[in-house]
Amino acid sequence: MRPPADLSEADAAAELARLAAEIAAADRAYHEHDAPEITDAAYDALRRRNAEIEARFPHLVRADSPGRRVGGAPSGGFAKVAHIVPMLSLGNAFGAEDFAEFCERARRFLGLKEALAFVAEPKIDGLSISLTYEDGVLVRGATRGDGAEGEDVTANLRTIASVPARLHGSAPARIEIRGEVFMTKADFLALNEAQEAAGQKLFANPRNAAAGSLRQLDARITAGRRLSLFAYAMGHSSARVAETHWEYLARLSAWGFQVNPLSRHLASEAEAAAFQAGIGAARAGLAYDIDGVVYKVDDLGLQERLGYVGREPRWAIAWKFPAEQATTLLQDIAIQVGRTGALTPVAQLQPVNVGGVLVTRATLHNEDEIARKDVRVGDTVVLQRAGDVIPQIVSVVLEKRPPDSVAYVFPDTCPVCGSAALRPPGEVVRRCTGGLTCAAQAEERLVHFVSRAAFDIEGLGDKTVREFIAAGLLRGPADIFAVPDHEQEIAAREGWGETSARNLSRAIEARRTIALSRFIYALGIRRIGEANAKLLARHYGSFGNWRDQMKAAVAIGSDARIDLSSIVGIGPAIAEELAEFFAEPRNIATLDELNRLLTIEDAVVPAAAEGVLAGKSIVFTGTLTTMTRPEAKALAERLGAKVSDSVSKRTDLVVVGEDAGSKAKKAAELGVRIATEAQWRALAGV
Ligand code: IVH
Repeated sequence: MRPPADLSEADAAAELARLAAEIAAADRAYHEHDAPEITDAAYDALRRRNAEIEARFPHLVRADSPGRRVGGAPSGGFAKVAHIVPMLSLGNAFGAEDFAEFCERARRFLGLKEALAFVAEPKIDGLSISLTYEDGVLVRGATRGDGAEGEDVTANLRTIASVPARLHGSAPARIEIRGEVFMTKADFLALNEAQEAAGQKLFANPRNAAAGSLRQLDARITAGRRLSLFAYAMGHSSARVAETHWEYLARLSAWGFQVNPLSRHLASEAEAAAFQAGIGAARAGLAYDIDGVVYKVDDLGLQERLGYVGREPRWAIAWKFPAEQATTLLQDIAIQVGRTGALTPVAQLQPVNVGGVLVTRATLHNEDEIARKDVRVGDTVVLQRAGDVIPQIVSVVLEKRPPDSVAYVFPDTCPVCGSAALRPPGEVVRRCTGGLTCAAQAEERLVHFVSRAAFDIEGLGDKTVREFIAAGLLRGPADIFAVPDHEQEIAAREGWGETSARNLSRAIEARRTIALSRFIYALGIRRIGEANAKLLARHYGSFGNWRDQMKAAVAIGSDARIDLSSIVGIGPAIAEELAEFFAEPRNIATLDELNRLLTIEDAVVPAAAEGVLAGKSIVFTGTLTTMTRPEAKALAERLGAKVSDSVSKRTDLVVVGEDAGSKAKKAAELGVRIATEAQWRALAGV
């Protein structure tokens, strides 16, 4: 076999085509017919050859390259797939009171007096996946990823016995089905025993084992692990399949899915506490880990009306079991400096196992918290972990306090840059005043810039960012896009190589085009999280417009500032943070430099919003009688409209309920279109 360097381009292209076909045939034989036609060694050799030729001729990498598919070479990674309907998360309740509040909020939103019926399901501690079926046949399976886009793990999911390859009976032309992949406690223990015997790394808990097993680039490894699936939710569906969630679960069973047998229909929310207690008592004896119970409003029509707030449904909640606790020694208190300069105290602990996870650090939040709990270095402390939440220090065991202990004194200078650390009156957080000159702030900003909800650059995680900053390769965000120019230098670094350096360059190039909302979020401006970044992107539409309006909004009382403050969800405090950011010329210079390097895509109005209300600015005033104000707002937003609190020349529509006052008058004066509640319903199509 000729070395890749000796191949002509035409030869290389021909060989890549042949290898793609051969590897695909071997994959099919292996996964679909369960009858491998070639030995593992021969298969690996094909993949290696393919990877070597691709490395020599990167421009010849085929769209159907085996390296890009699941089961591909380790450096290939998984293909990304967009979920038709996003995969969201759940709000948490930690007790009966939280749950009662959740029910009350939902009822208030709907304007209902009567109790709601729920379906209760154990909350499985695994990883959520989405399965797409077309005409009843499984065509794709993906991980949750960032909720909008996951990884294509179809080949791996096909190896799981409880994932039906074909649905029984009739099914919609296209449907996304969601569920949790998990490993039983017994299978987890057996796997770790086998790993240990083979000198391989051990998994910390069944959830990590399930995730690690599913995200194998070689599906044959997944096939060797015992994974299971419980189906529990619907994504997109081309046809309505049920009127209630309970009915939907029955359809899932009929199609051939496993539905958790402990799931119950609760006629009213009053039944939840008893159910919660029952599952809590059964928890230790279950074959798999659960960390709470999910309660879902049963009526799918009500679910639709309730919709979402941020990334969480208003129609479901996870009622978690009480946190697991442990005690350990607090060895030191370290001060971390965040991207906005906030000083956060972090307890350095003697390692201790809390509910299956080894904990070495815990947040102490801020100086008041330390003072309130009188936490001191050398204390024995009670720790707790609730679900995924960062461990917290609950209290100090005073009987074990050393006699010579002294109260902790919070620093008033930044431990990194030495600048004064100030605490504005009324705030709990002390902040470093070093701004862009503080190395810690600069570093954290960059880490944030490449994080998952921001630029999400594969291969450029926080460790690598810190490594590159230390090496002088990165200073500010714009330097990231110069990283590909240093590919050779990076390849030569310890732990790197040509392939990983090239993959990083590719990953960076792939992110030169970015959505406006992600871009805004990436800047790491205080109080501009994902949700606010989306609001801003939708409101201003394009980078240029946003930038210009923000510059104009620096002036207090300007039209631009008033417009910014009146975006629902933004308000004056957040407007001030933005103004502060834009008042700094160096920030604008960075923005403009990034804009030259990138293609920042205009915000798109959500797909559903093509109707008459898309892009319109609406004000509700007075009392609506057929829906509550929050429901009306949520509905308007779902239809692509912007809801504002005050009437101005720019308002397109004022919906006037009963007993409307000054806003209706102002609308009439300004000649803004006015609609009655009935007219509004007609416009919204409900
Ligand atoms: S429903 C929009 N049902 O919990 C709501 N989730 O905290 C979609 N989970 O990402 C989720 N068991 O991984 C739902 N019976 C269940 C669940 C469940 C476990 C997980 C799932 C989800 C997470 C949210």
